[in-house]
Amino acid sequence: MTLPPADGLILSMGYLPPDLQASGLLAHALRRAAGRVDLWDRLPIEGLQSLRAWFAREIGNGAVFSPHDVIICNGGQAAITATLRALVPPGRPILVETPTYTGAMSAARAAGLEVIPVAIDENGVRPELLEDAFEQTGARVFYSQPTFSNPSGVVMSNERRAAVLDIAAKAGGRLHHRGRLGARSRSGRQRTGSACDG
Ligand SMILES: Cc1ncc(COP(=O)(O)O)c(C=O)c1O
Repeated sequence: MTLPPADGLILSMGYLPPDLQASGLLAHALRRAAGRVDLWDRLPIEGLQSLRAWFAREIGNGAVFSPHDVIICNGGQAAITATLRALVPPGRPILVETPTYTGAMSAARAAGLEVIPVAIDENGVRPELLEDAFEQTGARVFYSQPTFSNPSGVVMSNERRAAVLDIAAKAGGRLHHRGRLGARSRSGRQRTGSACDG
């Protein structure tokens, strides 16, 4: 196997080049965290209360969340796995955009779910197909990446986001989305039962 040239752009994975990563800030934060004595004890599996409270405040964007609404995961893959297992019983269908992140499909299959693809266009998932898929499969969960979807890079238009939220709500569905879908009800709550920023 030939190694890529040192100055080559590696397209086989979605990792940012070093100059676009916040490595300095992360190193600083980790040095501070490592100095906290309580971090060397066993930590609660759902995450530190103070961290859950911080996320509950920060992700709210006007909505009211309590620390108990937040679970800290070790990364996106762990969050997808935990969310799917919490929301969908084995054997049940889950709708995904196609193409979608392969890790989400692996997590769904490992949880015994039936993965149902729904086609996208340049504005994101096609609403009429999403509606059909909800109706025909009885699915209650749609996994979506509305912003810079992996691997298509598509960003869902605002009209499409609103349409997706309406369709999911009509189907009694829940959305798992990586990144914010944006549309919220007047109370500021997400309009569907549950959502998760991956
Ligand atoms: C859409 C998406 N979700 C989740 C992940 C996995 O994230 P993590 O490395 O934090 O587990 C990736 C990684 O590329 C991804 O592209």
